[in-house]
Amino acid sequence: MSQLEKLYEGKAKIVYRSQEPDVFLTYFKDDATAFNAQKKGTITGKGEVNCTVSAILFQWLESQGIPTHYLEQTAPNEMLVKAVKIIPLEVVVRNIAAGSLTRETGLELGTILPQPLVEFYLKNDALGDPLLTRDRLSLLAIVTPEQLEILEKMALSINQHLQKFFLNCEITLVDFKLEFGFDSKGNIILADEISPDTCRLWDATESDPQARILDKDRFRQDLGAIEAAYQKVRSRVTDKQI
Ligand code: TMP
Repeated sequence: MSQLEKLYEGKAKIVYRSQEPDVFLTYFKDDATAFNAQKKGTITGKGEVNCTVSAILFQWLESQGIPTHYLEQTAPNEMLVKAVKIIPLEVVVRNIAAGSLTRETGLELGTILPQPLVEFYLKNDALGDPLLTRDRLSLLAIVTPEQLEILEKMALSINQHLQKFFLNCEITLVDFKLEFGFDSKGNIILADEISPDTCRLWDATESDPQARILDKDRFRQDLGAIEAAYQKVRSRVTDKQI
């Protein structure tokens, strides 16, 4: 891997060019950040959990007709993916109020939303990933109105499939963030990762509001037992695949 050309290093992953054109290798790090990297740490085993969970979820979504960048998991923390040009939008889907939605609207934590909420944030660390309005989305013209509609439809469909998958693992899918990219033919496909770093996942067998948290909120809020929570997600997802 060290001889491969590094294309991009983010907060949680490194992307390398592979020997194949149109194929990238993604390496998942144990490094953890929150609040736009103001908080930094390490979650031992996180890279392996996030890579493995993402691989299983991408394969599940592909089986349900959602195009993704996933090709093959080549090591516990390495994945081959189709080369894409990432669309600089973070697409968040919410089923239950938590995080910035409760902070910014006053909705009570745990409120079940009458319908899933899809939000678009600008993927720009320097600007702090701001939430975009429809008019700002149209002004920035990162995607066409038709592409925006495709992103929204794909996000809602992915939400339905992921909810079904996680329900079977006795995990409640509270909310999650997706990234999409254009493949070599210009098609929009799902990219990045789907993991306890990018989802809020609550243990459906646990009613205690802190004990049920199985995702990066344990790190964000200093709740402890972070590694154990990530491993629990890995084992539930691995054992209860549908
Ligand atoms: P939020 O409530 O902080 O806006 O987060 C919504 C969802 O998006 C949550 O599941 C965590 C995920 N997320 C990321 O994956 N990356 C980020 O940078 C942020 C802020 C949130």
